[in-house]
Amino acid sequence: MKIAVIGTGYVGLVTGTCFADSGNDVTCIDIDEKKIENLKQGIIPIYEPGLTELVQRNSAAGRLKFTTDTAAGVQPAEVVYLAVGTPQGKDGSANMSAMWSVVKAIAPYLQESAIVVTKSTVPVGTNAKIFGMLKELTGRECDVASNPEFLKEGAAIEDFMKPDRVVVGVRRPEVSDVLHQLYEPFLRTEKPFISMSPESAEMTKYVANAMLATKISFINEMANLCEKMGGDINDVRRGIGHDSRIGFAFLFPGVGYGGSCFPKDVRALTSMSLDHDCEPTLLRAVDEVNERQKSVFKQPILDHFDGDLKGKNIAVWGLAFKPRTDDIREAPALVLIDWLLEQGASIKVHDPEAMENVEAELGDKVAYCKFRMDAIEGADALVIMTEWKDYHSPDFAEMYQLMKSPVVFDGRNLYEPERMKRRGYKYYSIGRKAV
Ligand SMILES: NC(=O)c1ccc[n+]([C@@H]2O[C@H](COP(=O)([O-])OP(=O)(O)OC[C@H]3O[C@@H](n4cnc5c(N)ncnc54)[C@H](O)[C@@H]3O)[C@@H](O)[C@H]2O)c1
Repeated sequence: MKIAVIGTGYVGLVTGTCFADSGNDVTCIDIDEKKIENLKQGIIPIYEPGLTELVQRNSAAGRLKFTTDTAAGVQPAEVVYLAVGTPQGKDGSANMSAMWSVVKAIAPYLQESAIVVTKSTVPVGTNAKIFGMLKELTGRECDVASNPEFLKEGAAIEDFMKPDRVVVGVRRPEVSDVLHQLYEPFLRTEKPFISMSPESAEMTKYVANAMLATKISFINEMANLCEKMGGDINDVRRGIGHDSRIGFAFLFPGVGYGGSCFPKDVRALTSMSLDHDCEPTLLRAVDEVNERQKSVFKQPILDHFDGDLKGKNIAVWGLAFKPRTDDIREAPALVLIDWLLEQGASIKVHDPEAMENVEAELGDKVAYCKFRMDAIEGADALVIMTEWKDYHSPDFAEMYQLMKSPVVFDGRNLYEPERMKRRGYKYYSIGRKAV
Protein backbone atom coordinates (compact mmCIF):
# COMPACT_ATOMS: atom_id res chain seq x y z
CA MET A 1 0.00 0.00 0.00
CA LYS A 2 1.15 3.59 -0.57
CA ILE A 3 1.12 5.47 2.71
CA ALA A 4 1.89 9.05 3.75
CA VAL A 5 2.59 9.83 7.41
CA ILE A 6 2.42 13.49 8.42
CA GLY A 7 4.41 14.41 11.51
CA THR A 8 7.65 12.52 11.96
CA GLY A 9 8.02 12.54 15.75
CA TYR A 10 8.07 9.54 18.09
CA VAL A 11 4.77 8.19 16.80
CA GLY A 12 4.93 9.20 13.14
CA LEU A 13 8.45 7.93 12.62
CA VAL A 14 7.78 4.61 14.30
CA THR A 15 4.46 4.18 12.45
CA GLY A 16 5.97 5.00 9.06
CA THR A 17 9.04 2.84 9.61
CA CYS A 18 7.06 -0.20 10.81
CA PHE A 19 4.61 0.05 7.92
CA ALA A 20 7.58 0.28 5.51
CA ASP A 21 9.11 -2.75 7.21
CA SER A 22 5.99 -4.78 6.45
CA GLY A 23 6.41 -4.01 2.74
CA ASN A 24 4.45 -0.79 2.18
CA ASP A 25 5.76 2.30 0.35
CA VAL A 26 5.85 5.02 2.98
CA THR A 27 6.60 8.73 2.74
CA CYS A 28 7.10 10.54 6.04
CA ILE A 29 6.39 14.26 5.92
CA ASP A 30 7.35 16.95 8.42
CA ILE A 31 7.67 20.75 8.48
CA ASP A 32 10.95 20.50 10.37
CA GLU A 33 13.49 20.74 7.55
CA LYS A 34 16.49 19.85 9.68
CA LYS A 35 14.76 16.72 10.97
CA ILE A 36 13.92 15.60 7.43
CA GLU A 37 17.45 16.36 6.17
CA ASN A 38 18.90 14.25 8.98
CA LEU A 39 16.45 11.41 8.41
CA LYS A 40 17.37 11.33 4.72
CA GLN A 41 20.94 10.67 5.86
CA GLY A 42 19.86 7.99 8.33
CA ILE A 43 20.33 10.24 11.38
CA ILE A 44 17.49 9.65 13.85
CA PRO A 45 16.38 12.67 15.91
CA ILE A 46 15.26 10.62 18.94
CA TYR A 47 16.61 7.73 20.98
CA GLU A 48 14.39 4.69 20.52
CA PRO A 49 15.90 1.19 20.72
CA GLY A 50 16.08 -0.54 17.32
CA LEU A 51 14.73 2.42 15.34
CA THR A 52 17.96 3.53 13.64
CA GLU A 53 18.62 0.11 12.09
CA LEU A 54 15.02 -0.17 10.92
CA VAL A 55 14.96 3.31 9.35
CA GLN A 56 18.27 2.70 7.58
CA ARG A 57 17.24 -0.73 6.30
CA ASN A 58 13.90 0.40 4.90
CA SER A 59 15.35 3.61 3.43
CA ALA A 60 18.02 1.54 1.67
CA ALA A 61 15.28 -0.77 0.34
CA GLY A 62 13.55 2.31 -1.14
CA ARG A 63 10.35 1.74 0.86
CA LEU A 64 10.82 4.63 3.31
CA LYS A 65 11.22 8.22 2.14
CA PHE A 66 11.34 11.56 3.92
CA THR A 67 10.19 14.92 2.62
CA THR A 68 8.91 18.35 3.60
CA ASP A 69 6.85 18.43 0.38
CA THR A 70 3.24 17.71 1.41
CA ALA A 71 1.96 17.56 -2.17
CA ALA A 72 4.56 15.02 -3.30
CA GLY A 73 3.93 12.79 -0.28
CA VAL A 74 0.14 12.94 -0.20
CA GLN A 75 -0.77 12.76 -3.91
CA PRO A 76 0.11 9.07 -4.46
CA ALA A 77 -1.06 7.93 -0.98
CA GLU A 78 -3.95 5.49 -0.50
CA VAL A 79 -3.79 6.03 3.25
CA VAL A 80 -2.72 9.31 4.88
CA TYR A 81 -1.78 9.07 8.56
CA LEU A 82 -1.85 12.21 10.70
CA ALA A 83 0.63 11.98 13.58
CA VAL A 84 1.41 15.57 14.53
CA GLY A 85 1.70 16.68 18.15
CA THR A 86 -1.39 17.57 20.16
CA PRO A 87 0.26 19.21 23.18
CA GLN A 88 -1.46 20.67 26.19
CA GLY A 89 -2.96 24.10 25.60
CA LYS A 90 -2.99 26.88 28.21
CA ASP A 91 -6.34 25.80 29.67
CA GLY A 92 -5.44 22.09 29.83
CA SER A 93 -7.31 21.13 26.66
CA ALA A 94 -5.43 19.68 23.67
CA ASN A 95 -3.85 22.25 21.36
CA MET A 96 -5.08 21.17 17.94
CA SER A 97 -3.51 23.89 15.81
CA ALA A 98 -0.97 21.56 14.09
CA MET A 99 -3.76 19.07 13.28
CA TRP A 100 -6.02 21.72 11.72
CA SER A 101 -3.22 23.19 9.65
CA VAL A 102 -2.28 19.72 8.36
CA VAL A 103 -5.89 18.98 7.36
CA LYS A 104 -5.93 22.21 5.34
CA ALA A 105 -2.53 21.42 3.82
CA ILE A 106 -3.42 17.89 2.62
CA ALA A 107 -6.92 18.63 1.30
CA PRO A 108 -5.91 19.80 -2.21
CA TYR A 109 -3.73 16.74 -2.82
CA LEU A 110 -5.89 13.87 -1.50
CA GLN A 111 -6.81 11.12 -3.96
CA GLU A 112 -10.57 10.62 -4.20
CA SER A 113 -10.40 7.20 -2.54
CA ALA A 114 -7.72 8.11 0.01
CA ILE A 115 -8.38 7.28 3.65
CA VAL A 116 -7.27 9.90 6.18
CA VAL A 117 -6.39 8.37 9.56
CA THR A 118 -5.69 10.17 12.82
CA LYS A 119 -2.86 8.50 14.76
CA SER A 120 -2.41 11.42 17.14
CA THR A 121 -4.31 11.43 20.43
CA VAL A 122 -7.19 13.77 19.70
CA PRO A 123 -10.27 14.93 21.61
CA VAL A 124 -13.51 13.07 21.00
CA GLY A 125 -15.25 14.71 18.04
CA THR A 126 -12.03 15.44 16.12
CA ASN A 127 -12.76 12.79 13.50
CA ALA A 128 -16.15 14.36 12.80
CA LYS A 129 -14.56 17.81 12.64
CA ILE A 130 -11.90 16.65 10.15
CA PHE A 131 -14.63 14.97 8.07
CA GLY A 132 -16.52 18.29 7.98
CA MET A 133 -13.41 20.32 7.15
CA LEU A 134 -12.45 18.01 4.30
CA LYS A 135 -15.99 18.08 2.93
CA GLU A 136 -15.82 21.85 2.82
CA LEU A 137 -12.32 21.93 1.36
CA THR A 138 -12.67 19.15 -1.24
CA GLY A 139 -16.40 19.21 -1.94
CA ARG A 140 -16.70 15.47 -1.29
CA GLU A 141 -17.15 13.08 1.64
CA CYS A 142 -13.68 11.72 2.41
CA ASP A 143 -13.13 8.64 4.53
CA VAL A 144 -11.68 9.68 7.88
CA ALA A 145 -10.72 6.98 10.40
CA SER A 146 -9.30 7.05 13.91
CA ASN A 147 -6.50 4.70 14.84
CA PRO A 148 -5.11 5.67 18.24
CA GLU A 149 -1.60 4.58 19.08
CA PHE A 150 -0.74 2.72 22.29
CA LEU A 151 3.04 2.36 21.91
CA LYS A 152 5.37 3.10 24.82
CA GLU A 153 8.49 5.17 24.27
CA GLY A 154 11.48 2.94 24.95
CA ALA A 155 9.67 -0.11 23.55
CA ALA A 156 7.96 1.59 20.61
CA ILE A 157 9.05 -0.79 17.84
CA GLU A 158 8.17 -3.89 19.84
CA ASP A 159 4.79 -2.37 20.80
CA PHE A 160 3.99 -1.40 17.22
CA MET A 161 5.09 -4.72 15.74
CA LYS A 162 3.39 -6.81 18.44
CA PRO A 163 0.45 -4.74 19.67
CA ASP A 164 -1.84 -6.05 22.43
CA ARG A 165 -4.66 -4.88 20.20
CA VAL A 166 -5.35 -2.51 17.32
CA VAL A 167 -8.27 -0.11 17.67
CA VAL A 168 -9.85 1.65 14.69
CA GLY A 169 -12.78 4.01 14.53
CA VAL A 170 -14.57 4.02 11.17
CA ARG A 171 -17.86 5.02 9.54
CA ARG A 172 -17.81 2.34 6.84
CA PRO A 173 -16.79 -1.36 7.16
CA GLU A 174 -14.79 -1.07 3.91
CA VAL A 175 -12.44 1.38 5.63
CA SER A 176 -12.01 -0.99 8.54
CA ASP A 177 -11.13 -3.72 6.05
CA VAL A 178 -8.34 -1.65 4.44
CA LEU A 179 -6.84 -0.84 7.85
CA HIS A 180 -7.16 -4.49 8.90
CA GLN A 181 -5.09 -5.50 5.85
CA LEU A 182 -2.47 -2.93 6.79
CA TYR A 183 -2.20 -4.34 10.31
CA GLU A 184 -2.46 -8.05 9.46
CA PRO A 185 1.34 -8.59 9.43
CA PHE A 186 1.44 -7.36 13.06
CA LEU A 187 -1.49 -9.44 14.28
CA ARG A 188 -0.30 -12.91 13.36
CA THR A 189 -0.44 -14.04 17.00
CA GLU A 190 -4.22 -13.55 16.92
CA LYS A 191 -4.23 -10.29 18.85
CA PRO A 192 -7.55 -8.50 18.26
CA PHE A 193 -8.33 -5.88 15.64
CA ILE A 194 -11.16 -3.93 17.21
CA SER A 195 -13.39 -1.81 15.00
CA MET A 196 -15.77 0.75 16.49
CA SER A 197 -17.12 4.25 15.91
CA PRO A 198 -14.59 7.12 15.58
CA GLU A 199 -15.88 8.65 18.82
CA SER A 200 -15.36 5.41 20.75
CA ALA A 201 -11.85 4.99 19.29
CA GLU A 202 -10.91 8.55 20.26
CA MET A 203 -12.29 7.98 23.74
CA THR A 204 -10.52 4.60 24.09
CA LYS A 205 -7.11 6.24 23.89
CA TYR A 206 -7.88 8.78 26.63
CA VAL A 207 -9.50 6.18 28.85
CA ALA A 208 -6.49 3.86 28.49
CA ASN A 209 -4.04 6.57 29.50
CA ALA A 210 -6.27 7.87 32.30
CA MET A 211 -6.58 4.33 33.70
CA LEU A 212 -2.80 3.83 33.68
CA ALA A 213 -2.20 7.23 35.27
CA THR A 214 -4.84 6.42 37.90
CA LYS A 215 -3.05 3.20 38.84
CA ILE A 216 0.22 5.08 39.30
CA SER A 217 -1.31 7.85 41.41
CA PHE A 218 -3.21 5.27 43.46
CA ILE A 219 -0.14 3.23 44.36
CA ASN A 220 1.85 6.41 45.07
CA GLU A 221 -0.79 7.66 47.49
CA MET A 222 -0.86 4.25 49.17
CA ALA A 223 2.96 4.23 49.32
CA ASN A 224 3.08 7.57 51.11
CA LEU A 225 0.48 6.40 53.60
CA CYS A 226 2.26 3.09 54.10
CA GLU A 227 5.51 4.84 54.93
CA LYS A 228 3.83 7.06 57.52
CA MET A 229 2.13 4.08 59.17
CA GLY A 230 5.17 1.80 59.22
CA GLY A 231 4.29 -0.57 56.38
CA ASP A 232 6.37 -1.55 53.37
CA ILE A 233 4.68 -0.84 50.04
CA ASN A 234 6.65 -3.59 48.31
CA ASP A 235 5.14 -6.17 50.63
CA VAL A 236 1.72 -4.61 50.13
CA ARG A 237 2.25 -4.72 46.36
CA ARG A 238 3.01 -8.42 46.56
CA GLY A 239 0.04 -8.89 48.82
CA ILE A 240 -2.40 -7.30 46.39
CA GLY A 241 -0.82 -8.15 43.04
CA HIS A 242 -1.42 -11.88 43.26
CA ASP A 243 -5.14 -11.16 43.34
CA SER A 244 -6.03 -11.82 39.73
CA ARG A 245 -8.54 -8.96 39.82
CA ILE A 246 -5.71 -6.54 40.63
CA GLY A 247 -2.42 -7.79 39.12
CA PHE A 248 1.03 -6.18 39.25
CA ALA A 249 1.15 -4.05 36.11
CA PHE A 250 1.56 -0.31 36.57
CA LEU A 251 1.51 -0.54 40.33
CA PHE A 252 5.12 0.49 41.00
CA PRO A 253 5.46 3.34 43.47
CA GLY A 254 7.83 6.13 42.47
CA VAL A 255 8.35 9.84 42.00
CA GLY A 256 5.37 10.26 39.69
CA TYR A 257 4.65 9.87 36.01
CA GLY A 258 5.82 12.30 33.34
CA GLY A 259 6.25 12.26 29.58
CA SER A 260 4.36 13.73 26.70
CA CYS A 261 1.20 11.67 27.16
CA PHE A 262 -0.15 10.86 30.64
CA PRO A 263 -0.08 14.40 32.07
CA LYS A 264 -1.55 16.09 28.99
CA ASP A 265 -4.08 13.34 28.27
CA VAL A 266 -5.43 13.31 31.83
CA ARG A 267 -5.79 17.10 31.63
CA ALA A 268 -7.38 17.01 28.16
CA LEU A 269 -9.92 14.44 29.38
CA THR A 270 -10.58 16.66 32.40
CA SER A 271 -11.21 19.54 30.04
CA MET A 272 -13.55 17.42 27.88
CA SER A 273 -15.48 16.38 31.01
CA LEU A 274 -15.94 19.98 32.05
CA ASP A 275 -17.10 20.92 28.55
CA HIS A 276 -19.84 18.31 28.95
CA ASP A 277 -20.82 19.22 32.52
CA CYS A 278 -19.36 16.01 33.97
CA GLU A 279 -17.41 16.66 37.15
CA PRO A 280 -13.93 15.09 36.66
CA THR A 281 -13.37 14.38 40.36
CA LEU A 282 -11.14 11.35 39.92
CA LEU A 283 -9.16 12.76 36.97
CA ARG A 284 -8.36 15.93 38.89
CA ALA A 285 -7.21 13.92 41.89
CA VAL A 286 -4.98 11.72 39.70
CA ASP A 287 -3.23 14.80 38.34
CA GLU A 288 -2.96 16.47 41.73
CA VAL A 289 -1.51 13.37 43.42
CA ASN A 290 1.02 13.07 40.61
CA GLU A 291 2.14 16.69 40.78
CA ARG A 292 2.63 16.30 44.53
CA GLN A 293 4.52 13.05 44.09
CA LYS A 294 7.16 14.72 41.93
CA SER A 295 8.13 16.62 45.08
CA VAL A 296 7.95 13.67 47.47
CA PHE A 297 11.68 13.83 48.30
CA LYS A 298 11.82 17.55 49.06
CA GLN A 299 10.97 17.27 52.75
CA PRO A 300 13.13 14.20 53.49
CA ILE A 301 16.08 15.85 51.71
CA LEU A 302 15.58 19.07 53.69
CA ASP A 303 15.24 17.14 56.95
CA HIS A 304 18.35 15.12 56.22
CA PHE A 305 20.42 18.27 55.71
CA ASP A 306 18.83 20.16 58.64
CA GLY A 307 17.03 22.53 56.28
CA ASP A 308 20.17 23.82 54.58
CA LEU A 309 21.28 22.60 51.16
CA LYS A 310 23.58 25.51 50.35
CA GLY A 311 26.84 24.20 48.94
CA LYS A 312 25.77 20.56 49.21
CA ASN A 313 26.81 18.34 46.32
CA ILE A 314 23.89 16.32 45.06
CA ALA A 315 24.18 13.65 42.37
CA VAL A 316 21.14 12.83 40.25
CA TRP A 317 20.94 9.53 38.38
CA GLY A 318 18.23 9.49 35.72
CA LEU A 319 16.72 12.48 33.91
CA ALA A 320 14.40 11.00 31.28
CA PHE A 321 10.78 10.56 32.38
CA LYS A 322 11.33 6.81 32.11
CA PRO A 323 14.09 4.41 31.05
CA ARG A 324 15.01 3.64 27.42
CA THR A 325 14.05 7.06 26.13
CA ASP A 326 15.68 10.48 25.85
CA ASP A 327 12.31 12.21 26.35
CA ILE A 328 12.34 14.68 29.25
CA ARG A 329 8.87 16.23 28.75
CA GLU A 330 7.30 16.67 32.24
CA ALA A 331 10.09 14.54 33.74
CA PRO A 332 9.99 14.40 37.57
CA ALA A 333 13.81 14.78 37.63
CA LEU A 334 13.54 18.31 36.24
CA VAL A 335 11.14 19.38 39.00
CA LEU A 336 13.53 18.11 41.66
CA ILE A 337 16.59 19.66 40.00
CA ASP A 338 14.90 23.09 39.78
CA TRP A 339 14.14 22.92 43.48
CA LEU A 340 17.64 21.73 44.42
CA LEU A 341 19.10 24.65 42.46
CA GLU A 342 16.76 27.08 44.28
CA GLN A 343 18.01 25.65 47.55
CA GLY A 344 21.61 26.44 46.57
CA ALA A 345 22.83 22.87 45.97
CA SER A 346 25.47 21.98 43.38
CA ILE A 347 24.27 19.24 41.06
CA LYS A 348 25.99 16.60 38.97
CA VAL A 349 23.75 14.53 36.72
CA HIS A 350 23.96 11.33 34.74
CA ASP A 351 21.54 9.77 32.25
CA PRO A 352 22.42 7.27 29.51
CA GLU A 353 20.42 9.10 26.82
CA ALA A 354 18.73 12.30 27.98
CA MET A 355 21.63 14.59 28.91
CA GLU A 356 21.71 16.45 25.59
CA ASN A 357 18.02 17.35 25.94
CA VAL A 358 18.52 18.49 29.54
CA GLU A 359 21.56 20.56 28.55
CA ALA A 360 19.41 22.35 25.97
CA GLU A 361 17.10 23.38 28.84
CA LEU A 362 19.39 23.86 31.80
CA GLY A 363 22.69 24.79 30.16
CA ASP A 364 25.54 24.98 32.69
CA LYS A 365 23.32 25.15 35.77
CA VAL A 366 24.25 21.50 36.44
CA ALA A 367 27.34 19.42 35.60
CA TYR A 368 26.87 16.56 33.11
CA CYS A 369 28.76 13.32 33.74
CA LYS A 370 29.42 10.74 31.04
CA PHE A 371 29.80 7.98 33.63
CA ARG A 372 27.41 7.37 36.52
CA MET A 373 30.26 7.05 39.03
CA ASP A 374 31.64 10.50 38.06
CA ALA A 375 28.36 12.05 39.20
CA ILE A 376 28.62 10.67 42.72
CA GLU A 377 32.26 11.55 43.35
CA GLY A 378 32.30 13.84 46.41
CA ALA A 379 28.48 13.80 46.65
CA ASP A 380 26.65 14.48 49.90
CA ALA A 381 23.74 12.46 48.54
CA LEU A 382 22.59 10.58 45.47
CA VAL A 383 19.02 10.88 44.18
CA ILE A 384 17.73 8.25 41.72
CA MET A 385 14.90 9.54 39.52
CA THR A 386 14.71 7.08 36.59
CA GLU A 387 14.96 3.30 36.78
CA TRP A 388 17.51 2.77 34.01
CA LYS A 389 19.01 -0.76 34.12
CA ASP A 390 22.42 0.94 34.52
CA TYR A 391 21.48 1.84 38.09
CA HIS A 392 20.15 -1.53 39.27
CA SER A 393 23.44 -3.12 40.29
CA PRO A 394 26.17 -0.55 40.87
CA ASP A 395 29.33 -1.42 42.84
CA PHE A 396 28.10 -0.25 46.23
CA ALA A 397 31.56 -0.52 47.82
CA GLU A 398 33.05 1.74 45.12
CA MET A 399 30.14 4.15 45.55
CA TYR A 400 30.74 4.21 49.28
CA GLN A 401 34.37 5.20 48.69
CA LEU A 402 33.50 7.86 46.11
CA MET A 403 30.70 9.64 47.97
CA LYS A 404 31.41 12.24 50.64
CA SER A 405 28.58 10.76 52.67
CA PRO A 406 26.78 7.52 51.78
CA VAL A 407 23.21 8.78 51.43
CA VAL A 408 20.80 7.56 48.76
CA PHE A 409 17.31 8.87 47.97
CA ASP A 410 15.90 6.17 45.71
CA GLY A 411 12.82 7.39 43.85
CA ARG A 412 12.31 4.06 42.09
CA ASN A 413 12.84 1.52 44.91
CA LEU A 414 15.72 -0.18 43.11
CA TYR A 415 17.45 -1.55 46.20
CA GLU A 416 16.58 -3.55 49.32
CA PRO A 417 16.58 -1.28 52.40
CA GLU A 418 18.12 -3.87 54.75
CA ARG A 419 20.97 -4.56 52.34
CA MET A 420 21.63 -0.84 51.93
CA LYS A 421 21.77 -0.50 55.70
CA ARG A 422 24.27 -3.36 55.96
CA ARG A 423 26.38 -1.69 53.28
CA GLY A 424 26.56 1.38 55.51
CA TYR A 425 24.19 3.67 53.63
CA LYS A 426 21.50 5.99 54.89
CA TYR A 427 18.76 4.95 52.48
CA TYR A 428 15.45 6.64 51.69
CA SER A 429 12.94 5.14 49.25
CA ILE A 430 9.24 5.34 48.40
CA GLY A 431 6.63 3.83 50.71
CA ARG A 432 9.22 2.13 52.91
CA LYS A 433 10.78 3.23 56.17
CA ALA A 434 14.09 5.09 55.77
CA VAL A 435 16.98 3.02 57.15
N1 LIG B 1 5.07 9.83 22.25
C1 LIG B 1 4.30 8.82 22.63
O1 LIG B 1 4.71 7.94 23.39
C2 LIG B 1 2.88 8.72 22.12
C3 LIG B 1 2.19 7.50 22.25
C4 LIG B 1 0.89 7.41 21.77
C5 LIG B 1 0.28 8.52 21.19
N2 LIG B 1 0.97 9.70 21.09
C6 LIG B 1 0.30 10.83 20.45
O2 LIG B 1 0.81 10.94 19.11
C7 LIG B 1 0.87 12.32 18.72
C8 LIG B 1 2.28 12.67 18.30
O3 LIG B 1 3.13 12.53 19.42
P1 LIG B 1 4.72 12.53 19.29
O4 LIG B 1 5.27 12.20 20.63
O5 LIG B 1 5.11 11.71 18.12
O6 LIG B 1 4.98 14.08 18.97
P2 LIG B 1 6.33 14.77 18.51
O7 LIG B 1 6.30 16.13 19.09
O8 LIG B 1 7.49 13.88 18.80
O9 LIG B 1 6.20 14.85 16.92
C9 LIG B 1 5.29 15.65 16.24
C10 LIG B 1 5.87 15.97 14.87
O10 LIG B 1 4.90 16.66 14.10
C11 LIG B 1 5.58 17.63 13.32
N3 LIG B 1 4.64 18.66 12.86
C12 LIG B 1 4.04 19.64 13.57
N4 LIG B 1 3.26 20.40 12.78
C13 LIG B 1 3.35 19.88 11.53
C14 LIG B 1 2.78 20.21 10.29
N5 LIG B 1 1.95 21.24 10.17
N6 LIG B 1 3.11 19.46 9.22
C15 LIG B 1 3.96 18.41 9.33
N7 LIG B 1 4.53 18.04 10.50
C16 LIG B 1 4.25 18.77 11.58
C17 LIG B 1 6.65 18.16 14.26
O11 LIG B 1 7.69 18.83 13.56
C18 LIG B 1 7.11 16.86 14.93
O12 LIG B 1 8.18 16.26 14.21
C19 LIG B 1 0.34 13.11 19.91
O13 LIG B 1 -1.01 13.32 19.75
C20 LIG B 1 0.58 12.18 21.09
O14 LIG B 1 -0.31 12.41 22.15
C21 LIG B 1 2.25 9.81 21.52
